[in-house]
Amino acid sequence: MNYHIVTYGCQMNVHESEKIAGLLRRAGYTQESPVEEADIIVFNTCCIRENAENHAFGNIGALKKLKRRKKGLLIAVGGCMAQEAGKAELLIKKFPFIDIIFGTHNVAQLPALIERKRRERKVVSLLPDREETEDGAEAYRTSYPNAWVNITYGCNNFCSYCIVPYVRGREKSRSAQRILAEVRALVQAGYKEITLLGQNVNSYRDGDTDFPALLDAVASVEGKFRVRFMTSHPKDFSERLVAVMKKHEKICNLLHLPAQSGSDRILTLMNRRYTRGQYLEKAAYLRREIPEAQITTDLIVGFPTETEEDFEETLSLVKEADFSSAFTFIYSPRTGTKAALMEGQIPEEVSKWRIARLIEAVNENTRRKSERYVGSTIEVLCEDFDEKKGLYLGREPLGRMGYFASDEPCVGEFVRMRVTRANGVSLYGEKE
Ligand code: SAH
Ligand code: SF4
Ligand code: F3S
Repeated sequence: MNYHIVTYGCQMNVHESEKIAGLLRRAGYTQESPVEEADIIVFNTCCIRENAENHAFGNIGALKKLKRRKKGLLIAVGGCMAQEAGKAELLIKKFPFIDIIFGTHNVAQLPALIERKRRERKVVSLLPDREETEDGAEAYRTSYPNAWVNITYGCNNFCSYCIVPYVRGREKSRSAQRILAEVRALVQAGYKEITLLGQNVNSYRDGDTDFPALLDAVASVEGKFRVRFMTSHPKDFSERLVAVMKKHEKICNLLHLPAQSGSDRILTLMNRRYTRGQYLEKAAYLRREIPEAQITTDLIVGFPTETEEDFEETLSLVKEADFSSAFTFIYSPRTGTKAALMEGQIPEEVSKWRIARLIEAVNENTRRKSERYVGSTIEVLCEDFDEKKGLYLGREPLGRMGYFASDEPCVGEFVRMRVTRANGVSLYGEKE
């Protein structure tokens, strides 16, 4: 039997889809297939911004005909949007043909829910929070040579714009022992890059083991592989963490440190609990200790009451913090969050004009930094072959994509490449 999974959202969801694939395989759906040939279609949704939701709504709606035509086809909707208050009801109303709705806290029950669906007309199963940190779902990994490893679930930060704490529940750390066992097994199985995942990895704690200690232990596992981690909340980013990064060559010196805004007034309204000055100090400390370190970030424009002056502070932060690249977002009000109730919501035209200028500033920085690579030799971990370009591609430790030609297959290998040309975050060159 065939399955098809559609994933929206962050790396956390991408990895969750690997777990869903593992569960489906155990439930007898042993072959991944195109959507038209699938016996079960699972939507793993995201609700971080309105457009993520609209995207899922559009894709689910488009299945109406297929569902009518194909007897026995199951449609399941899970993920953050399914877990959002009131959304399951809305989904059923809009798309009565959905068979199963499950939440973020009961992914592991999916095989049981499929079984239940044999007896019931429709199955809706949502739990209020995650009870355990181990869900028993073994991932069917599709991201080789990288492997995602959860270290925390949920979030306690309640940034005023963000829906994640509501749909992912309270923060819970997995046991360090289990994380290390998973990493060891992955490295033995040939994975070359381990990415530790958490909404705020810096608040990880298992007894005496905090995040720097965990990272130290992960990077001490024998073998040639890289370690990455995301995301770091600036308020918890510590000197001890920098010391661990400095100690291990395996840990990539690329830090994803979402700033969100450059204005102290907006940062306070966002409940981020750091100032622009503190953010810049942490960035400067990292660079003093590890001069090659690069910082990427997330930035939001159009947060309620954001003035032109506030926005200009975000704009100037791009240069001052010297971001290597950045994800930029227009603020999207999320029902249930504090910011959605704030006065002074910003008209879309204003936000659009701001984000256009911000993207330009970010691109300028990215371009300038990429050009510095020309003439140098980098080591990329080859991830894939780009059919269109006819080139292999892989990432270097600081996050740039390297494209190169090769006669032999080299996915999963570390390749030394001489950079001849740069374009945005992409570097082109020759295999040495
Ligand atoms: N836990 C991570 C990432 C959370 S979601 C962190 O704290 O950084 C990824 C990004 O989406 C956030 O960093 C933020 O920039 C953006 N985001 C979250 N809620 C948003 C909203 N309501 N509107 C626009 N962007 C949002
Ligand atoms: Fe959302 Fe803030 Fe938690 Fe990140 S730290 S998931 S932005 S509430
Ligand atoms: Fe991730 Fe979207 Fe959920 S960003 S945590 S999938 S709301």
